Amino acid sequence: MSFDTVEQNRSRQQFDGISSVWLFGYGSLIYKVDFPFLEKRPATIEGWARRFWQGSHDHRGTPEAPGRVVTLIQQPGVRCKGMAYRVSPDVFEHLDVREKNGYLRFTTPMTFDDGSVEDGLVYIATEDNAAFLGPAPAADIAQQIARSSGPSGPNRDYLLNLAEALRSLGDEDSHVLEIESHLR
Ligand code: SIN
Repeated sequence: MSFDTVEQNRSRQQFDGISSVWLFGYGSLIYKVDFPFLEKRPATIEGWARRFWQGSHDHRGTPEAPGRVVTLIQQPGVRCKGMAYRVSPDVFEHLDVREKNGYLRFTTPMTFDDGSVEDGLVYIATEDNAAFLGPAPAADIAQQIARSSGPSGPNRDYLLNLAEALRSLGDEDSHVLEIESHLR
């Protein structure tokens, strides 16, 4: 799969006649909201684990020295907490560019805190994308994050902002917390 997923994402879902779409954010989309939205609600998706396994060539690193950002890995029984935004479909023109380094849009059921369920779109960088890095010990991931920086700023800010945002959501993500404690 190519590094730039913009064209692939454009043809993945049809928004004809649809006035709003739910988007589920589990990484930077929780704390860096640089897009308009109609509504936002904490939500959870099932069967997915948040992992710092995706390389970042365009935001928190460079192609020569990639940073590490989160993607979702399928894991039965695991829940991932995040933030859902109801957005106008034209917002995906911006988001597809922002998430172009390996992320594809998938449809997922999302459960809100009141128990109601809606389908939403989520950006996932699957293992076959060219920037995927995969698992590594938490201390090594923290070291890579500590030394990486890209056009969106230091990789450490991505990790620390995400850890803080998850605390605000009342989430305890042991993978993120372990890497954060190594970094600190
Ligand atoms: C997301 O936040 O939902 C996708 C990954 C990222 O942009 O950090």
